[in-house]
Amino acid sequence: MCGIVGYIGFRQAADICIAGLRHLEYRGYDSAGIAVIAEDGQLDVRKVVGKLAVLGELLEQQPLIGSTSIGHTRWATHGKPSVQNSHPHLSCDGRIAVVHNGIIENYQELRTQLEAEGHTFISQTDTEVMPHLVEKYYEGDLRAAVCQAVADLQGAFAFGVICADNPGQMVAVRRFSPLVVGIGEGENYIASDMGAIRKETDKVYVIADDELALLMPDSIELTDLDLNPIQREVFVIPWPADAAEKAGHKHFMHKEIHEQPEAMHACLAGRLSDPDKSIVLEGLNMTEAEIKSLRKVVLTACGTAYNAGLVGRFIMENLARVPSEADLAAELRARDPVVLDNTLCIVISQSGETADTLVALRDMQEKGAKILSVLNVVDSSIARESDGVVYIQAGPEIGVASTKAYTLQILTLELIALHFAEVRGTASAEQLRELKAALLQMPEHARVLLEREEDVKAIAAKHYEKPNALYLGRGINLPSAMEGALKMKEISYIHAEGYSAGEMKHGPIALIEPSCFTMAIAVAGEVYDKMIGNIMEIKARSGPVIAVADDGDEQIPVTGVDAEADPDDVASQPNDMIWVPPVPELVSPITVAIPLQLLAYHMADMRGEHIDQPRNLAKTVTVE
Ligand code: F6R
Repeated sequence: MCGIVGYIGFRQAADICIAGLRHLEYRGYDSAGIAVIAEDGQLDVRKVVGKLAVLGELLEQQPLIGSTSIGHTRWATHGKPSVQNSHPHLSCDGRIAVVHNGIIENYQELRTQLEAEGHTFISQTDTEVMPHLVEKYYEGDLRAAVCQAVADLQGAFAFGVICADNPGQMVAVRRFSPLVVGIGEGENYIASDMGAIRKETDKVYVIADDELALLMPDSIELTDLDLNPIQREVFVIPWPADAAEKAGHKHFMHKEIHEQPEAMHACLAGRLSDPDKSIVLEGLNMTEAEIKSLRKVVLTACGTAYNAGLVGRFIMENLARVPSEADLAAELRARDPVVLDNTLCIVISQSGETADTLVALRDMQEKGAKILSVLNVVDSSIARESDGVVYIQAGPEIGVASTKAYTLQILTLELIALHFAEVRGTASAEQLRELKAALLQMPEHARVLLEREEDVKAIAAKHYEKPNALYLGRGINLPSAMEGALKMKEISYIHAEGYSAGEMKHGPIALIEPSCFTMAIAVAGEVYDKMIGNIMEIKARSGPVIAVADDGDEQIPVTGVDAEADPDDVASQPNDMIWVPPVPELVSPITVAIPLQLLAYHMADMRGEHIDQPRNLAKTVTVE
């Protein structure tokens, strides 16, 4: 799981590759490398262990001059992060260089065969078989050699290949891993995603599986693997060139949290404009008859998107009255689910490239389910394999910790569930109206919540040194607790558990003590009284509580506070309060999420962590 980029044209290629790779670091950042065809006709390579900044420093001392280049940022799968294992990988004669994203499943067998034929390997990677295969088949035509090499491969890949004998050519090819070709004037590009080259061009070809691109400075030829020409429409990237910059924020995560009001507007635009009008969902691709005859909905995703799916299950069942399940994508296939006729599988993914999610999609499709995806990145692998796609319209999300995608995934699932409820006649006109009005208010609620950032920051300052946290919620806000805890642990490294408050007494209550803070989600609704009971129990065991409650709630701040207790005991202190605007319970996970994102962000910042690139993580997990 890595990022690749390439440039061919008339400018200094290394600079453009490095700038592109910067936008791909979310895919991996344990090592990086770049190869340039130098003016003397040799391939020059620089590789480092560590983040891209380290490669940038090396290039300042040892610049690479030339106008054809490929670059790579790595997230190790085969072989630990080391200079030898980092890309680009070279052929024996050092004249062919390859960058790769994906996994070659039969590399061991190919390596044994190539070694027997006299090729020498220097890394532990699966990728290294590719330059040797291209070398084996190369007879002066780079594209033909790449085609032959690819025929030997099993697995997933997007490759960029250059050869010192053909300085005016670059070949790119994909199967299951994302790849776009950027179109310039007298210069062209390849990249794992559009964001990497958006500063250079807004025109791209989105390459499909088993398609190959031959790039020259003045032309691009797209073919299948038998070299039959392919005509492809130019895709115009729909966001401005600076959308992937930090715009004055300290981190992308902070910028993305603050982009939520605007992104919510974009998500609602054209779909819901008036509480008295029907919801319009382009891309849904389902007839009213299909919606009415639904027997089951299975929602599947990974990580944060799965937490959004848990909210989706709740609203789908509650509003549209369709039996619904939510499964972790990595687990769905393992349980070999029974798929009834008229089952809809809703696949949720920010990137649209998550390998586990893609595998779950294929399994459900094979079993006969119709696939509806809720995605952010346009024209991703998941989009291409789905029957319908509803985009969340969040714009690029760069920070590894997903924030705006989460709230927009829930917003989109709310729109889908309301639409289904409307068509199936399972919710009263009054309820539909109330919920639609609440969704239309969401951008404004998000804006108000962001204005309260300083209050959240003050709470972060009080608790950021604690090693443990318990996030408790019930009903539709159990997923909010899980997501709040996930955000906290992944960027601050505070150990945080998201738990059903109802389960607290069955185990987690043992963790309660002064150095473990409890986040109690206690907005108004069916489960409010029970949450009050849980807060009392935590305070009685000297656990500090941060509570999320509706504006104006007077009960929670002093719930569980014991006036008789030792004033040094946290149990005698009022609870720390995070106030949110009151909304119907069924849409409250959206408002609750925003302060929990801010709390995790500020605690991580106070602890001095690498917020946009937490350790061991990558933004897009394209390996199972
Ligand atoms: C956590 C996070 C991950 C992703 C997960 C799925 O902040 O970002 O848990 O949500 O890897 O990724 P997508 O949505 O791209 O399929």
